[in-house]
Amino acid sequence: MTAKQMLAQRAEAVESYLAKCLDGRGIPERLLDSMRYSLLAGGKRLRPVLVLSWCSLLGGDANAAMPFAASLECIHTYSLIHDDLPAMDDDDLRRGRPSNHKQFDEATAILAGDGLLSEAFVLMTEAAVQNGLPAERVLKAVNVLGRAAGSGGMVGGQTVDMEFTGREGQVPLEELQKMHAMKTGALITAACECGAILSGAPEEDVRNARKFGRAVGVAFQIVDDVLDVVGDEATLGKPVGSDAEQGKSTYPALVGLEKSRQLARDHVDGAVGYLARYNGPENEFLTLLARYIVDRVY
Ligand code: IPE
Ligand code: IPE
Ligand code: MG
Ligand code: MG
Ligand code: MG
Repeated sequence: MTAKQMLAQRAEAVESYLAKCLDGRGIPERLLDSMRYSLLAGGKRLRPVLVLSWCSLLGGDANAAMPFAASLECIHTYSLIHDDLPAMDDDDLRRGRPSNHKQFDEATAILAGDGLLSEAFVLMTEAAVQNGLPAERVLKAVNVLGRAAGSGGMVGGQTVDMEFTGREGQVPLEELQKMHAMKTGALITAACECGAILSGAPEEDVRNARKFGRAVGVAFQIVDDVLDVVGDEATLGKPVGSDAEQGKSTYPALVGLEKSRQLARDHVDGAVGYLARYNGPENEFLTLLARYIVDRVY
């Protein structure tokens, strides 16, 4: 099986959980439609799969961690809905469909994002409240994810992205990497780290998961930038050439396609190194997944 197939297989369980996770919450119909429209539009489900996989790798109960894993997809989906808004990247296509604000309207899209972020907290805590994972572990993981999603993480990175957009002159590579680490790396890092925390593994393993996540996270956004130049719109399910059109600061714009690919490969090589001490099928999967992040076309 290829890494892509393995990822898709693991994503199936996440998909079924997501399909039910907003049921019975008393969400007004149009808001619920809008939240489900984006949440259930496909997507690789990379972040929840990373939670589950790190949890399993370290001997934890991945089934019990499922709601927590799903919370990452809610936060990620909210970030995509807001990222596409006219005030941000102004993109009309997402996950192969009209962007949320195109299908509904801007107010609904903003609120669907707000709704998904808030529901994420219910899901995170469900891992303890309903599934019996030790509250102390879940509390730690909530703390980690809150920081990663927030102003010093994803939201902060999106702010820096907007500051850099259309700016005269080039942004130094170091600053670009920092932005990528925040806007995309933080959530991917938190996925790995929270999986490790929920497994109950010792701090050393949690640190390893964090380092793996950091390296993979930066590589992931570099490749996202590359695909915005060389990718295929139908395959990606989102517009190609949007970054250049908006005057975004990206790796290809700064160092070119080849160097960008090389840098992504270097980060992934580093990430794979953190897996060296583990073995078994989960280790094999994470190694293949890390490599796939550079080779992917979607
Ligand atoms: C796209 O994320 C936005 C970034 C943070 C780079 P993904 O490439 O994981 O998007 P989906 O979830 O598969 O749609
Ligand atoms: C967005 O980066 C990262 C997020 C936190 C949503 P991009 O703006 O490059 O993501 P895409 O290409 O629109 O998916
Ligand atoms: Mg953006
Ligand atoms: Mg965008
Ligand atoms: Mg992009």
